[in-house]
Amino acid sequence: MPKEGAAVTVTTLEIPDALSEIDAEARVVIANALNLARERLDMEIAWLAEFDGPRKVLRVVEGDTAGWDLQDDSWLPAAESYCARMLDGRIPNAIADTAAEPGVRDLPVTENLRIGAYIGVPLILHDGELRGAFCCLKHTPVRDLDDRDVRVMEVLARLVADELGFRQSLRRIRAQEARDASLQALLAALQVRDDYTSDHSHAVVDLAVAVARRLGLADEEITDVEQVALLHDLGKVGIPDAILRKPGPLTDEEWEVMRTHPAVGADIVGQLEALAHLRPAIRAEHERWDGTGYPDRLAGEEIPVPSRITLTCDAFHAMVSDRPYRTAMPRDAAVLELRRCSGAMFWPDAVDALVAELDGAHHLV
Ligand SMILES: [Fe+2]
Repeated sequence: MPKEGAAVTVTTLEIPDALSEIDAEARVVIANALNLARERLDMEIAWLAEFDGPRKVLRVVEGDTAGWDLQDDSWLPAAESYCARMLDGRIPNAIADTAAEPGVRDLPVTENLRIGAYIGVPLILHDGELRGAFCCLKHTPVRDLDDRDVRVMEVLARLVADELGFRQSLRRIRAQEARDASLQALLAALQVRDDYTSDHSHAVVDLAVAVARRLGLADEEITDVEQVALLHDLGKVGIPDAILRKPGPLTDEEWEVMRTHPAVGADIVGQLEALAHLRPAIRAEHERWDGTGYPDRLAGEEIPVPSRITLTCDAFHAMVSDRPYRTAMPRDAAVLELRRCSGAMFWPDAVDALVAELDGAHHLV
């Protein structure tokens, strides 16, 4: 929080270069705050500005928009703007008379827009992120514009920040809920179809998430890995029981049918808006590091990371599980097999991370 009586300077916060989403409800709240500021401080126009690369965009403008020839989405070069200067502390928050302020007196925008007085504060969200600037202008000087007025602006800017922050978390929660609902529906379908496949998927998920963490992936990437591992065999819902549950080796024709499951799973996931981003990774869950996998014969880094991790963990878990036609392989033998196929079938980094994980966490298998 700015100190009492001091000009607000924000030199430590980075100015974002992308616009936020402002829906109709948020716009009403912002407009009310801008009008309150404008009327209380006897200014002509007020706006909420954000930065879009080199442009300062007026997202919401209230007041004498006709007299200033400015409206929602008008923009100015950020480099020339008062707001950018205020945010990095080059000019004070309140300028009662622009002719007396060397920091703005000679700026082209001062003359072009005929700016007489300015007041502006940063718009900072709850998490400390700088979002933009909350400002008012007048064509003529305002003699008594001072720090008390800056305080008023700060209170109103906080109101707007609360509203934007609230909207942002609401959108995040809704998106997460949509993803969860889609996932649950898919998993329910999978559970009904084949109990083994579903239990197996959960075991693979635990391993895959542990490997993703060991590889130092970002949180969002770990979520992708988790979901791909969970859904990797989704396409098996389309495989006939006679093949899926066959208590012996498959014929060539049966393998051909079996090998359609990654593409089928990808197509199903692609239909769901909340999960469509996982489509390429689901499709690639049987691609091999050396390019001899299926269906697209992708190789090395062409294969999405979640697919590489899932393949490794899936293969390991399959080796140490009983199958209808054979008993489980001992864990040490399965680890040797992973090592033997590292760089051919498997991404070497995934093998290393999985082996390290198995060494450190015996309870996982
Ligand atoms: Fe699979």
